Amino acid sequence: MEVTIREGVLDDCQEAGRICYEAFASLAARHGFPPDFASVEAATGPIKYFIQHPHIYGVVAECDGRILGSNFLDERSAIYSMGPISVDPMAQDRHVGRLLTQAVLDRAVDRRAQGVRLLQIAYHNRSLSLYAKLGFDVRGSFAAMHGRPIGLTMPGYDVRAATAADEAACNALCISVHGHDRAGELREAIDGGAAKVVERLGRITGYTAGIQYLAHSVAKTNDDLQALIGAAADFGTPGFLVPLGNTPLFRWCLGHGLHVFFVANMMTIGIYQEPKGAYLPSVGY
Ligand SMILES: CC(C)(COP(=O)(O)OP(=O)(O)OC[C@H]1O[C@@H](n2cnc3c(N)ncnc32)[C@H](O)[C@@H]1OP(=O)(O)O)[C@@H](O)C(=O)NCCC(=O)NCCS
Repeated sequence: MEVTIREGVLDDCQEAGRICYEAFASLAARHGFPPDFASVEAATGPIKYFIQHPHIYGVVAECDGRILGSNFLDERSAIYSMGPISVDPMAQDRHVGRLLTQAVLDRAVDRRAQGVRLLQIAYHNRSLSLYAKLGFDVRGSFAAMHGRPIGLTMPGYDVRAATAADEAACNALCISVHGHDRAGELREAIDGGAAKVVERLGRITGYTAGIQYLAHSVAKTNDDLQALIGAAADFGTPGFLVPLGNTPLFRWCLGHGLHVFFVANMMTIGIYQEPKGAYLPSVGY
């Protein structure tokens, strides 16, 4: 079978969304997990958003005019992130995923990205192996946590909506923890009303682009993160990602009634430094 890769267009959304739902749902069912996307519509929505987004690059794999899968590269910040990638269950294990992954890695090289990262669902041996073969290193494991909002207010930790005036302080905090900022994602979250900051004595000590799967958070301490998590109105499904290396925070989430949806591994290519502070990754990194 001759498979070609091309840039995704709006007309691909329906079929790419169906494949994304079925690829993730069949994999999850095989391992006894609930599906990542609840329905075809729940998968098609994000695919449409990604294809239309000016800073997210999408590719589809095609054979004889039929779409076999899709993949995305988030180019909003200095470090890019890959995913979601999905291949039609009928076409899996025949190197389509390899082609789709290589296509976005080639794009990252062309655009001189400082690195590419992703989170990989730990129960999927095939994606773990494929990414490792293509050069990704495993950096850590993360639990997707979901449940009812905690509704916690911590005295002295003031949580409020982030504004454009907070961007410089938030980006500086991100650089101090990760060595790079995530300015593109933060700006979008501020514009969309999803970003929040936590302040102590009038100084920003943490921010979140949203306590959920698609967004990241950075803070000086676990207490700052707990103030942000405690104030969140909804964690969504599969929930926000907690580094398992940060056992006190993981245990705090469990102690507040949250449940683990699944565990995912972060994998990276390019520059990487161990975070020096508290953080929650997005599904990208
Ligand atoms: C992940 C996914 C995109 C991979 O696509 P694919 O077309 O099935 O995978 P490929 O055939 O291109 O590559 C699989 C590679 O892993 C290897 N592999 C598969 N299972 C393996 C195992 N258990 N141990 C070691 N290697 C394994 C294969 O040999 C192949 O390597 P090769 O290209 O060097 O021969 C696809 O399986 C999928 O859509 N899964 C559901 C959605 C999903 O999990 N997405 C990823 C979320 S992180």
